[in-house]
Amino acid sequence: MKRTIVITGGAGFIGSHVVRLFVNQYPDYRIINLDKLTYAGNLANLSDIEHKPNYRFVRMDICDFDAFLALMQEEHVDGIIHLAAESHVDRSIKDPFTFARTNVMGTLSLLQAAKVYWESLPEKYEGKRFYHISTDEVYGALEMTHPEGIPAPFTTQASSGAKHEAYGEEFFLETTKYNPHSPYSASKASSDHFVRAFHDTYGMPTIVTNCSNNYGPYQFPEKLIPLFINNIRQRKPLPVYGKGENVRDWLYVEDHARAIDTIFHRGTVAETYNIGGFNEWKNIDIIKVVINTVDRLLGRKEGEDLDLITFVTDRLGHDMRYAIDSRKLQRELGWEPSLQFEEGIEKTVRWYLDHQDWMDNITSGDYERYYDDMYKNR
Ligand code: NAD
Ligand code: TYD
Repeated sequence: MKRTIVITGGAGFIGSHVVRLFVNQYPDYRIINLDKLTYAGNLANLSDIEHKPNYRFVRMDICDFDAFLALMQEEHVDGIIHLAAESHVDRSIKDPFTFARTNVMGTLSLLQAAKVYWESLPEKYEGKRFYHISTDEVYGALEMTHPEGIPAPFTTQASSGAKHEAYGEEFFLETTKYNPHSPYSASKASSDHFVRAFHDTYGMPTIVTNCSNNYGPYQFPEKLIPLFINNIRQRKPLPVYGKGENVRDWLYVEDHARAIDTIFHRGTVAETYNIGGFNEWKNIDIIKVVINTVDRLLGRKEGEDLDLITFVTDRLGHDMRYAIDSRKLQRELGWEPSLQFEEGIEKTVRWYLDHQDWMDNITSGDYERYYDDMYKNR
């Protein structure tokens, strides 16, 4: 079957992996990467596939309703995989309006344009799909009931699929009540509600997925793992928020992209799927793994750079623990993460060290100035 799919945010971190997977895996599909190229968008992330005949890049703001409607009409778009967003919590604390504009109004604009176009067709919503990529952060924060960790496999019902230590008995389920705390997660929660409202009100075939923290190649170095790899390499301080006790659940980005592929093709309309690999880590522990891996790969004495760890003022409203229960996706669609964390982090560190030009290119411009501004008062 031929399809024409718009992937928004395809020049960003996760989006570039999704675009690459779809372009390579489905030569019969037309894949349109729609991206505004904000500070976080980088076409160098896609240089290996940009000349493929089934790929087109369109520079566009998702808030531009008229332009997007015209693109849908011109290209006869039948699928949308929506990743474009402002994605960094620290930026949302400084500038919440940009997050409301892009994440809420931008998503609404895409939905409304898709509605107008698809409802104008004789077959209407038949064979169409609006797939919205969201985050586990919309569920709020979980308690650290076991600060020393419960080794896997442990016994509570929600966690029986666990492969790694957990720091509490509760997990985010698809039915967990939304309780966002940061302007970022509030904007994502709002966009999730609009997507579901378009299904419930107009019958649009929508799907929402909520994924845990991703790591891997091409992540913008404002996020923990690439920022710290780059700083360790340059022997710059590593700003650890608070005591480094917060817990995040980490998934290798290509496993997320595979989940998106599976769900886009086989997921049930109007359903929500949580995506995660049962892989909880305290920030301080993951930071030590990253330091040891960088040091080893650079031929430094392992642990030599542990003294770069610098505890700084905590992030405002810093969520304590995220942990995803992804057993619905595993049970219903057979998706499983493919990589163990140790393997994934080794691949990731190696990639950043081998792509210093990619990193230098990003960190030399506006971002460097922004970063200086963020941290000079800490
Ligand atoms: P990113 O910041 O790396 O990339 C975002 C992309 O969106 C960039 O290419 C940017 O240019 C583009 N963009 C931003 N505003 C735009 C606009 N107005 N119009 C068009 N394009 C615009 O983000 P990411 O980490 O790849 O996240 C992608 C999606 O996945 C987001 O929706 C995010 O909420 C979600 N998500 C991310 C994670 C994670 O760990 N990174 C986890 C779960 C869900
Ligand atoms: P981040 O990569 O920003 O993702 P998110 O906030 O979406 O989870 O941060 C991951 C964790 O690392 C989070 O608990 C905040 C912490 N962190 C630091 O301690 N120092 C840093 O410089 C950054 C960027 C994050």
